[in-house]
Amino acid sequence: MSARPRVLLVGAGSVGQVFGRFLAAAGCELTFLVKARHAEATRAGFTLHPLGLVSRGPPERLSGFEVLESQDEVARRTWDQVWFCVSSAALREGTWVGGLARATGEATWVMLQPALHDREWLLQHVPEDRLVSGLIPFISFASPLKPGQGPGPGTAFWLPPLARGLFSGPPGRLREVVRALRQGGYPAREHPSVAQAMAVPSAVLNVFVTGLEAADWRFARFREGPSVRAVREATREAIAIATGGHRGRTAWAVGLLRPLAFRLAFLGTRLAPFDMETYLRAHFTKVSAQTRLMIREYIDTGRDRGQPVRHLEALNAPGARTLPR
Ligand SMILES: NC(=O)c1ccc[n+]([C@@H]2O[C@H](COP(=O)([O-])OP(=O)(O)OC[C@H]3O[C@@H](n4cnc5c(N)ncnc54)[C@H](OP(=O)(O)O)[C@@H]3O)[C@@H](O)[C@H]2O)c1
Repeated sequence: MSARPRVLLVGAGSVGQVFGRFLAAAGCELTFLVKARHAEATRAGFTLHPLGLVSRGPPERLSGFEVLESQDEVARRTWDQVWFCVSSAALREGTWVGGLARATGEATWVMLQPALHDREWLLQHVPEDRLVSGLIPFISFASPLKPGQGPGPGTAFWLPPLARGLFSGPPGRLREVVRALRQGGYPAREHPSVAQAMAVPSAVLNVFVTGLEAADWRFARFREGPSVRAVREATREAIAIATGGHRGRTAWAVGLLRPLAFRLAFLGTRLAPFDMETYLRAHFTKVSAQTRLMIREYIDTGRDRGQPVRHLEALNAPGARTLPR
């Protein structure tokens, strides 16, 4: 490990910029690997807007990093860490991840993706003793969400109070990742298994989002529509599949599916320092290929194991807008 960790961030979208901000604050030597169409905008640097519950911080500039566009450029250098700041769907596109494995030597890989089989998929390219997994506890988005709403142009991000950025992986490499982030002021914590910690929240969120999309991204329409019960049943199926049917790990989550808990969750979204409904629409429209991939994986995995998937299939049917009760 060099004195200043050399970090390659793959993808300079909402998440890549926020991790870039904390890693730069920790003194890491930062490089972004981006698609050619984003190179010019990335070289110009980014404006970040930290949001808080009661007030927001002043805009910050993230610049002074390098920008690469090809794996040949990546291969000419040595890296300590490679962070995958792209969606699960982007990870599976083409053969670029295999190429990156050959170009990044012995670097630690940091994955942040939520789909059920992302980890297995990456382990085809990198050995387990080099792979660190992370859970993203913040929300970030291209600002403004709506014209005239919130901070000016740039990327806004919100770390909710008490949020913890969990990471798991091989001890030595995990320690380096967590230490760098904490030095930069990010609330990173070691955890025995991020995959387990993410299983239920990812299942709940992705099934809910699929139902919300069917309700035209409107909370009121979703709550009052015929689909709530069907979404609840599909969520139950997804949770059982994501946890391998482990009862101890699902009991609390199934409790969250009760109507009162649903109502409280909707009320809770009002505390966020931005319009949650607009964020969910913008973000999950952007990553819609990932949501479809995740639902598909729950269905395929459930079927393979003989677990119920009927409600998930109904949710996933082409053009499904009104779900069965
Ligand atoms: N933003 C949030 O609030 C948030 C919160 C929790 C979790 N996450 C998760 O974090 C992941 C990233 O989300 P995001 O909001 O950062 O998405 P994003 O803003 O779309 O950023 C991803 C960036 O990576 C680029 N990219 C895709 N494939 C690439 C490749 N092979 N090489 C280099 N760059 C590549 C994309 O370019 P193109 O768009 O041109 O393909 C895009 O610029 C997703 O899994 C998301 O679900 C996000």
